[in-house]
Amino acid sequence: MAEPTQVLFHPAPPAAMAADVRRGLSERLPTLPSKYFYDDRGSELFEQITQLSEYYQTRTEEALLARVAEDVMTRQSASELVELGSGAGRKIGVLLEGMGRAGRAARLTLFDINALFVAESVRALAARYPDVPVRGVTGDFTGDLTALGPGGGRLAVLFAGTIGNFHPDEVPGFLSRVSAQLKLGDGFLVGVDVVKSRARLEAAYNDAAGVTADFNRNILSHINRALGADFVPEAWEHVAFYDDANAWIEMRLRANANCRVRIPGARFERTFRAGDEIRTELSCKYSRGTFARLLPGTGLVMEQWYFDREELFALALLRRVHLPLLRLA
Ligand code: AVJ
Repeated sequence: MAEPTQVLFHPAPPAAMAADVRRGLSERLPTLPSKYFYDDRGSELFEQITQLSEYYQTRTEEALLARVAEDVMTRQSASELVELGSGAGRKIGVLLEGMGRAGRAARLTLFDINALFVAESVRALAARYPDVPVRGVTGDFTGDLTALGPGGGRLAVLFAGTIGNFHPDEVPGFLSRVSAQLKLGDGFLVGVDVVKSRARLEAAYNDAAGVTADFNRNILSHINRALGADFVPEAWEHVAFYDDANAWIEMRLRANANCRVRIPGARFERTFRAGDEIRTELSCKYSRGTFARLLPGTGLVMEQWYFDREELFALALLRRVHLPLLRLA
């Protein structure tokens, strides 16, 4: 019999959002952290993005995962799956079933910034896998991961290419913080979007139906609601382009006209001129080599790099082999 499911709340305090917004919008290139896309509407819009014909990541990762789940299971002996940024929590079922077939007792922890998605996913997965204890943690996995609590025998997963939203300089620190929540021999399975043609990459972030544009502008609605700001989302144009020197997609919002924005919840206001831009997301693209270069010092090594047949997307299976040597903060 499974333990009852539970959901723990570690919401980022509104003060953290206020500080992030104030700091980001004061930069030379004004910036908003992409984690603020994911209010309820944004999480819903992202779900729609995953269905777009131009957005190859989700379906490629799902098919790849189905193909390699068994191999992943033979390479580590986890009893707890920890999904970071779980969203709707669909892909994790493939790994749970793989664990079941390998005859392993499984426990599942879902960790996501969106409380609604955590609660719904916990309920759905507990119903679908009645023998699996499912636990939800609402929190910001880019910050404090200690909310996971002590544990070992873990396989952590971060799907969807979300690792790409960190600036490459921030990845080793993040990997170290994950590593610190694992024990020797534990695994971390990471979905990585890979470098490919500019045309293919830019199409994925400039879909014909305009869903990505709505997703991008929704960050302003989220800030309006959370911090009492007066952004006019319709007055900002969606911009997404591939920067091949940095190997990242950048999403921005460009002001259509001069405007003044007040953000009382962040005690901040500023003027934007027509054409001024706010950077809302980096989505870094890697190769096996450029990704492997982020690992030294994190306590994690590359155990396996799995590619789909077209080499559009990869899953990197990392293994914890020693303590992280880098600062965790
Ligand atoms: C799921 C966060 C990795 O960067 O491709 C989709 C989010 N942004 N379209 C990505 C996103 C624009 C996505 N991640």
